[in-house]
Amino acid sequence: MTAPNESIVVPVALAERAYDIVIGRGAIETLGARIKALRPNAKTVIVTDATVQKHHLDRVTAILTAAGVASSPIVVPAGEGSKNYATFGTVCEAIIAARIERGDLIVALGGGVIGDLAGFAAASVRRGLDFVQVPTSLLAQVDSSVGGKTGINSPQGKNLIGAFHQPILVIADTAMLDTLSKREFRAGYAEVAKYGLLGDAAFFDWLEANWQAVFAGGETSNSMAREQAVAICCRSKAGVVARDERENGERALLNLGHTFGHAFEAAAGYSQRLLHGEAVALGCVLAFEFSARKGLVAESDAARVRAHLAAVGLPTHVRDVAGGVPSADALMDLIAQDKKVKRGKLTFILTRGIGQAFVANDVDPAEVRDFLSEKLS
Ligand code: GLY
Repeated sequence: MTAPNESIVVPVALAERAYDIVIGRGAIETLGARIKALRPNAKTVIVTDATVQKHHLDRVTAILTAAGVASSPIVVPAGEGSKNYATFGTVCEAIIAARIERGDLIVALGGGVIGDLAGFAAASVRRGLDFVQVPTSLLAQVDSSVGGKTGINSPQGKNLIGAFHQPILVIADTAMLDTLSKREFRAGYAEVAKYGLLGDAAFFDWLEANWQAVFAGGETSNSMAREQAVAICCRSKAGVVARDERENGERALLNLGHTFGHAFEAAAGYSQRLLHGEAVALGCVLAFEFSARKGLVAESDAARVRAHLAAVGLPTHVRDVAGGVPSADALMDLIAQDKKVKRGKLTFILTRGIGQAFVANDVDPAEVRDFLSEKLS
């Protein structure tokens, strides 16, 4: 068992909805005490999935029990399929059956799917219950557990049903990432690199030099590179969320790589053929290449992004998508579904350099189509 090292605490400055993100190996050991301090009389339900249950549920339950916090588990099947109406209903009914009331807490123990699902249940049951995020994937630690986006999927598209509902605490225990497969960790790393690419060139330089230490992490490593990387991403996201909680402007930059990425993810059927983070890696490369094609950014910057993500083992070319990809027209249909065309123009996150992303509301769909055709040829 990992003992708690000194943790890094990143505040999310949202006035009456402010909260801390606690980052460190063994930080989970402090969960019970922190809940006790925040909500002294709360009882909890722990929403998790069948995979995370095997690795972490007993330990988290024991930590809560030791602090005198009562808990009961709600376990759903692992995978994106659980972000549906049926599972959402099951979770809400289980929360009500467990007699969780205002003043009690939901603990979301898992990756992005669990955070989104449990967070949306917390936003909905009794018109809003408090919740704590305990993200167990790298992607969830650096992105989805922070900022209060919660929700489920509609048959018509991803994340179309949901609410902004901030957690009262995030505990990102970097030792929990040791149980991830290399592929899963790598996919989460795409979101780490994204923070450098969108607004922090010095962080991208640092990642180029230190990514192997971020991957190594681990009990035997003396390096704090993993914790530093998670903290830099969380600081960056906390800043964006504090300035633009409801995504009226700057927060959209966090979608760098996501418009291209979502099209490839949808084309692969949201399956193991292409994980979300892998699609984001490919999408970031395409966003740089498209920006270079438009003369906004030097081709050498696009090449640098491609080289780093390829070195890590992430997909950087359409030919890297297992099972192939559909035509440019089919991809354009998926892009149009994901981001509505407004007055004949698309919105994309483009870039003027590493660390210099911006929102472009005036992208000509014909230009995107020609670019995709070139990439597919
Ligand atoms: N994952 C993007 C956001 O939280 O806004």
